[in-house]
Order: sequence, then structure tokens, then C-alpha cells
Amino acid sequence: MPFSEIVGSLSESPTLKVTQRVNELKAMGVKVLSFGAGEPDFDTPDYIKQAAIEALNNGKTRYTTASGIPELKDAVIRKLEHDNGLKGYTRKNILISSGAKHALWNAVFTILNPDDEAIVFAPYWVSYTEQIKTAEARSVIVPCHAENHFEPRMEDIEASVTAKTRLILLNTPNNPTGAVYTKKFIKELARFCRERSIWVISDEIYEKLIYDSKKHYSIAKYLPEKTIVINGVSKAYAMTGWRIGYVAGPEWIIKKMAMLQGQITSCPNSIAQYASLAAIQGDGSDIEYMRAAFEERRDYMVERLNTIPGIHCKKPSGAFYVFPEIREAVEKMGMRGADELVEYLLEKSSVAAVSGTAFGAEGFLRLSYATSLEEIKEGLDKIESLLK
Ligand SMILES: Cc1ncc(COP(=O)(O)O)c(C=O)c1O
Repeated sequence: MPFSEIVGSLSESPTLKVTQRVNELKAMGVKVLSFGAGEPDFDTPDYIKQAAIEALNNGKTRYTTASGIPELKDAVIRKLEHDNGLKGYTRKNILISSGAKHALWNAVFTILNPDDEAIVFAPYWVSYTEQIKTAEARSVIVPCHAENHFEPRMEDIEASVTAKTRLILLNTPNNPTGAVYTKKFIKELARFCRERSIWVISDEIYEKLIYDSKKHYSIAKYLPEKTIVINGVSKAYAMTGWRIGYVAGPEWIIKKMAMLQGQITSCPNSIAQYASLAAIQGDGSDIEYMRAAFEERRDYMVERLNTIPGIHCKKPSGAFYVFPEIREAVEKMGMRGADELVEYLLEKSSVAAVSGTAFGAEGFLRLSYATSLEEIKEGLDKIESLLK
């Protein structure tokens, strides 16, 4: 092989692939109704943009400390205490990275050795398994079921743990299912991991997008010594392009991650760090505006989907995705699976969705409702008429 075997083993992100195809079709003048997006359709709020302009005008244009600016670390510490009840973090427990994805890779690569096993719950976000491969470690997939609202079951986790298990990847609220894990499960998992000395990487990037008065529980509260919290500004503040995420965890491991990051990217973007500082210190009104809009769209989408023959959709409590089961619909159409349906929807009706197969779940679709209610209505009309 003329290039690295590790890179050769990686798959392209299927969600980014859909986005690319949608952009190609749009460039050809096709009106695409896209349920593929993994990002809010809102613009970054003005007060955040202003903070970036000020940072530029004030000459904040140089390298920062590799692990991020102290003011942003302090804001993250206050946020973790105020929103998640996580006390006792100091600047030494915080690392600012170039997006939550980069934060995750720093953590995965710092913890795992070749041949280690990492438990990933399916359906899973597409980058987990690929990031684990970069450390030459192995993903052990533990399936979660729609009947259990896609929350993992302790007995399935117990059955998958071996002497090589070093890490569990947790994501609540979840992409792609929208599941929000219960306090009971989070506490049980914390106890389980403490007894076996297993690390948890807790990806909490959708924390602010929760509905039906459900609550987000961070496992770091119950397992601080073994939890690495991952979060960021992308989804909560409509800042996906700014590329700022952060990590909170035990001091010694944060120090190692900061060293790794220093060698790979030097530091996160200076201007985006100041913008993120303004975002996290904001009064939260913009977040609430977006959250309420997402909730309205979710309600509409779930109700409509369940009226389409062959589609069964649970009502998720978080993030901006629904994850309907479409097996019957696919069979009725005489198709092989969700991949074929997704292709058919895009090429015949210009409706973009992502197949569940990409997330390790055959027979499902992921539909993002990070798009306007009008487009959601139009897109569902098209799906309905196609399947009917
Ligand atoms: C579950 C999950 N974690 C992390 C990320 C990455 O977020 P960021 O844009 O901050 O890198 C995403 C983005 O889609 C995600 O869905």
C-alpha cells in the first residue's frame, strides 16, 4: 500500500458525503429538501459575531496557549458547575480543542493502545469507530433497541466487557437516535465502570437540545476520576463552522492531551475562542429560541412519519434527529434495504436522508429536523407520496 494502513482502513463520513451530494445537486440548480444536515440551520447569534470582530480589532490574532485561553477555560468551568453540577475543576482540568470532534480524537488517541477494546453503543455517531481505528484499537459494538428508547442495557454491556476493555463511548443526547439517557442508567454505568476501572468518554455536544422537560445527566458527576467530558459550541450556539470544542477531565490526562494537541494543531483558532467565550457567557435566550423551534419541528415530524404506512417512529427527547424504523416500507417497495431507499429518495424526489446502516443500524433512517418547517412539510409530502 503506498500510504498508511491505518488511513487505508478508515471510511469516509457518510453524513459529510450526503452533504457533499446535496451541495452538488444544488449547484446544478436542483431544489433539494435536505434531512441530512448535522448542524443547526440558524445563523450564529449577533453578540457572538461581535465578540469575534472585537477580538480581530484588538489583535487577538496570534497563537494562544496550546490548551486554550484561560478566560474560556474559566467560562467552561463555571458552565460545568452551573449546568451540570460538576464541581472542583480548575484550568488544569480543561482543554479547548478545534471542535468536539477534535476534542474526542485527543481523548480517544490518548487513552487507547493498539488492541485495546472500546465499547460503542449502536446506533452510533459515525466518527467513533473511525477514531478508534486511528489508535489501532478495536470497537466492540453493543446494540441498543428502539423498544428501550435506544438506551443501552447493563446486561448487554456486561456481556461485552473483556479484560481488554479500556473505554466506553457514551453520547447523550444521542446522534442519531435523539435518545436522552436516564439518571438511573448513568448512575449504574458509573458504578460498573468504577468497579472495573474503565474510562468513559462522555460526548455531551447536544446537551442544550432537550425536550419534554427531560434532563441531561453527566456521568462525570458520578465517575469524575474516570470520565472525560466532551462538549462544545457547535450545536448549542449554531457555531459549527467556528470549530471550538472542549474537554474536561482528570488533570494528568488533560496534560497528556494538551501535549498531543500542541504537536498536532498548536492551538485552537484564537478569534473563535473569543467568540466561544461570549457564547458561553451569554444569557441563553438564543439557545432557548432555537430549542423551542426544534421541538415544534420534532413534534410535527414524528406525528407525520407515523401516519405513513410502513414507518414507525419513536419520539426522541433530544438533539435534532428522528430515527424511524422503515423495514416494512422498504420491503413493500421491493428494495434491498435503507441504503437503496435513501438513494431512491435523493435521485427521484430530491429528498436527502441518511441510511441507518451508516450508524450501525440496518432498517432505519436518520432524518434531521435542522431545517425549516416548510421544508419539513414539503419533504414529508414527497416521502409520503413516494411510499404510498
Ligand atoms: C455526537 C457528535 N459528537 C461530536 C460532534 C462534533 O461536533 P463539532 O462540530 O464540535 O466537532 C458531532 C457533530 O455532528 C456529533 O454529532
